[in-house]
Amino acid sequence: MNLPAKYPPISPKTPFFLHGGDYNPDQWMPEVYPGVWEEDMRLMKLAGCNEASVGIFSWASIEPEEGRFEFGWLDKIMDMLAKNGAFAVLATPSGARPAWMSQKYPEVLRVEGNRQRNLHGKRHNHCFSSPVYREKVRIINTKLAERYKDHPALIVWHVSNEYNGDCHCDYCQKAFRGWLRKRYGNDIEKLNQAWWTGFWAHRFNDFDQVESPSPIGEDLLHGHNLDWKRFVTDQTIDFFRAEIEPLKRITPKVPVTTNLMGVFEGLDYWKLAKELDVVSWDHYPPYQDQEDMWKFAIGASFQHDLNRSFKDGQPFMQMEMTPSMTNWMPVSKLKRPGTLLTEAMQSVAHGADTIQYFQWRKSRGSSEKFHGAVVDHSGHENTRVFREVAEVGAVLKKLSPVIGTTVRPEVGIIFDWENRWAIEDSKGPRNEGREYVGTVLDHYRPFWVQGVPVDVLSEDSDFSRYKLVIAPMLYMVRAGVGERLEKFVAEGGVLVTTYLSGVVNETDLCYLGGFPGPLRKVMGVWAEEIDAPFKEQRVKVESAPGNDAGLNGTYEGRSLVDLLHAEGAKVLATFGSEFYAGRPAVTVNSFGKGRAYYVASRHDAKFHGDFFGHLIKQMGLKRVLETTLPEGVTAQVRGDGKREYVFLLNFKRTAAKVDLGGRKYKDMISGQEVGGVVELGGYGNRVLERTV
Ligand code: GLA
Ligand code: ZN
Repeated sequence: MNLPAKYPPISPKTPFFLHGGDYNPDQWMPEVYPGVWEEDMRLMKLAGCNEASVGIFSWASIEPEEGRFEFGWLDKIMDMLAKNGAFAVLATPSGARPAWMSQKYPEVLRVEGNRQRNLHGKRHNHCFSSPVYREKVRIINTKLAERYKDHPALIVWHVSNEYNGDCHCDYCQKAFRGWLRKRYGNDIEKLNQAWWTGFWAHRFNDFDQVESPSPIGEDLLHGHNLDWKRFVTDQTIDFFRAEIEPLKRITPKVPVTTNLMGVFEGLDYWKLAKELDVVSWDHYPPYQDQEDMWKFAIGASFQHDLNRSFKDGQPFMQMEMTPSMTNWMPVSKLKRPGTLLTEAMQSVAHGADTIQYFQWRKSRGSSEKFHGAVVDHSGHENTRVFREVAEVGAVLKKLSPVIGTTVRPEVGIIFDWENRWAIEDSKGPRNEGREYVGTVLDHYRPFWVQGVPVDVLSEDSDFSRYKLVIAPMLYMVRAGVGERLEKFVAEGGVLVTTYLSGVVNETDLCYLGGFPGPLRKVMGVWAEEIDAPFKEQRVKVESAPGNDAGLNGTYEGRSLVDLLHAEGAKVLATFGSEFYAGRPAVTVNSFGKGRAYYVASRHDAKFHGDFFGHLIKQMGLKRVLETTLPEGVTAQVRGDGKREYVFLLNFKRTAAKVDLGGRKYKDMISGQEVGGVVELGGYGNRVLERTV
């Protein structure tokens, strides 16, 4: 696949950073709050904002009664934005609906797994199969597209909001059965085999006997649960396709997106993201000035990389972040001064071409009245938060050359939704502390610490672009994946996988004939048993003298331990305690032109630092800077093949120094030439340009 060195801007109208966010002018109607909209426009300019995401929860203001549409207020807002040189990310309002609809058509209300229909309220509380809901969405989306198709402010469609959840109503049951018939070629025997229904007399004679998983019914057939989750993703995509049909027909050139939520569990984002013209996501890292806050920054960077990887390196939109605090974290501690800019630069560093907040103006009432906003209840610009937002705006103005640039990492880490669902649903080998997400992050960390760019992959990604592929806990290996990983290694790639890999197929049936199943040949090991030590127990891991894997002395294995036999693989470390002392703990297998490592137990940061640190050196993997970065600091890069933009980000309270070596850089903010040792303030950052 030929990937571009640089991407076009999200809209040809905006070859610069979008800066703005969720704007709810319909909470501030002029009849009740005269002058607020005009004041908003003045303040947006002052804050260096050029974008507003409008209409996200506006259904009741646009269609106050069935069939009666009130676009006057939205016309005015769109015109005001355009007049002020700003742009609209215009939403379809399906994330929440008016009360009249739930009252007249109760079928639009979601039914929970316990088969109880919800009452009207909250948001995201709709059935995604209901013909009435789909029809109502089609009507309002058509009207929006027709009305604003030529509006100069319109640049992107924000479809619905944070799709999530499932519905168990009769429509959804029917759709699920149809989905299953298709998947299993209308052959109930195939489903019985795939779900292992011989267990507990769970056989089905007919697809009509199948229901969605339920706490008051069936929820222990893992294949069933997995297929339901797949169906929910597909049905959400089906709903999304229905939503965008009028948008694509009437405004084919306006890109569509829906805001994703990082590593949200409920939907397979690898699939949903492919449907979007541009990926966007909402990000609320707990940057609350705590000791070791920098460790949260690793997870944040990972999620940015994930969003950039969804579309093979295409820049994404930072659709939401908070200018100060949230209202939903256990404690709403304020971000310390300067943190906001560094947080924004972190998004940009990993591929964001926009910085947008939730929210522009703080609501006066209801559950989000204490959620951070650019404009506080005081209503003016003389606040710390407003000044910090304005500073972000001023910085973004200087970063236009960064738009559309990307990064082409040599390292890929597999983070696969279906694998995660299977791990989390399994009964045993440990039912607490499985930590798939945490384990993937543990493997990402050494690269963040050393400033080595990383892509995130699914099992279906093209591995051939990478030198190193890491597949932590690759429990589910879908058909063909083992062969593709084998080919990757045979052709010279380096693969690292761990305990609990190659255990089940795509419907959660265990591989017969020895784990790691389809990976056994390439790994050169057989895992005979899996031990699950208690939480506080550690198993000694002893490095083999003279191993060429950077392992030194002893380490501590924990949580999950594979009892391995080396079948051709070289043993790099062995277990030093327990009844399996002497068994392989880390192995490497030469296979074709490449090699494959197997790490047989869970490890801490020290092990990962030594092991991956050594691989980085040995393989000569490109680091953004050839220097040791201080703790809590990372370096990330974007470029177009000619110019590169290096982002130095400090997530510690204290100042830090970074050695740039002999190379010359231009500081993108001050415009000055820099080199040698540069300083980063506490929670500070630098954006530096260099030629390739
Ligand atoms: C989500 C939603 C927003 C808002 C924020 C608050 O991201 O999309 O509407 O509720 O959370 O953090
Ligand atoms: Zn339903």
